[in-house]
Amino acid sequence: MSGCPFFEKRHLLFRNEPPTKEGKEDASQAGDNKTSKGRFLYGDYLQLDKIVSAQLLQSELKGNKIHDEHLFIVTHQAYELWFKQILFELDSVRGIFISGHVRDERNMLKVNTRIHRITMIFKLLVDQFSVLETMTALDFFYFRDYLAPASGFQSLQFRILENKIGVLDNLRVPYNKLHYKDNFKGSENELLLAAEQEPSLLKLVEEWLERTPGLEVDGFNFWERLRINIFDGLNCDEEKIEKMEDSEEKAEVMDELVKQRELFTSLFDEQRHQHLVSKGERRLSYKALQGALMINFYREEPRFQVPFQLLTSLMDIDTLMTKWRYNHVCMVHRMIGNKAGTGGSSGYQYLRSTVSDRYKVFVDLFNLATYLVPRHWVPKLNPSVDRFLFTAECYDSSYCSSDDSD
Ligand code: HEM
Repeated sequence: MSGCPFFEKRHLLFRNEPPTKEGKEDASQAGDNKTSKGRFLYGDYLQLDKIVSAQLLQSELKGNKIHDEHLFIVTHQAYELWFKQILFELDSVRGIFISGHVRDERNMLKVNTRIHRITMIFKLLVDQFSVLETMTALDFFYFRDYLAPASGFQSLQFRILENKIGVLDNLRVPYNKLHYKDNFKGSENELLLAAEQEPSLLKLVEEWLERTPGLEVDGFNFWERLRINIFDGLNCDEEKIEKMEDSEEKAEVMDELVKQRELFTSLFDEQRHQHLVSKGERRLSYKALQGALMINFYREEPRFQVPFQLLTSLMDIDTLMTKWRYNHVCMVHRMIGNKAGTGGSSGYQYLRSTVSDRYKVFVDLFNLATYLVPRHWVPKLNPSVDRFLFTAECYDSSYCSSDDSD
């Protein structure tokens, strides 16, 4: 019988069969009781003794324990832990860009996954305010004085996060006529300065976009081809409008065409771009803007699919941070009305002014939608660039190592 294949199969099947009720052991109880072998236990591994003993209610210390202060503290601590995780992911992504490993396109998956993770955490943080909002303004009023002059404004991690993403120093709203860094002393101040000076995600993405394949003037020259196609297209539209009978509609369409021509003239005007950058209205370099637009138009090409997803996630980060600021300020309004903040700002008024495009790091990516054109105006790929965008190739072998630092 041992040579019979059918028997062999049946034999294996029997071996995998779960134990029957009678006589055999219950599979749900078949562990090896590792805990009894003196290994790391849950609480030790997570250092929970430190974490769960870090809720010191100031109201209780002052002999007037207010129940909701516990929620207030835990909520802030949860935010800070998530800020820490975001910084961890952000640093690793920046590391991939800084080391040049990003030039090996295989590493883009890692970049995308981590940036996407950051957006998921931000989603959670935006919603998390609703738990704290179960506290009423009066409940907060009962213990608010005990925590002054502490304020979220002094959150070091939040400021480092803003800097590392790329919030520009000169665009920040002054706080009580002070610079935000003036609230941080000693080593905290140094950390903030370092976070301002290190290349931000914005800068690193900008350099990466500048290298978008297809921008080369002596190659596909996307920008020049796009310019020619757009103005040819507009001229063609103008001819069609000219042939229309004089009417209100004709005047309206012509007005619209004039506006479109102005819009695209400004897009292809590098000096104007520099002017907008100097005013903080655009953040990316002229070349990087071209790369971003190219990725948008050819997002279906295999080599541009992952970069397109990255650009989408970067906008998500901006959107979610704006939502965070908005939810925070709405909650502040409901909790303290128009009173000044414990950190010394005007409170609601100050926070309201931060919900603005000044804090949107990737604002150029949002504005790209202004410049979308009909599909037939987008330059056709020629066979060589088509193949090039289809295949991921590594040109500079020195950059072709994958980032496997972890
Ligand atoms: C009852 C709840 C809260 C109130 C009344 C409140 C109030 C305020 C006020 C008035 C400010 C302006 C600075 C000041 O003068 O103090 C501020 C800033 C700030 N708060 Fe809160 N906050 C609350 C909850 C939170 C939570 C849960 C976090 C999470 C970490 C947080 C993080 C921040 C941050 C990061 C800033 C600086 C924002 C900026 O300058 O752009 N706050 N908060």
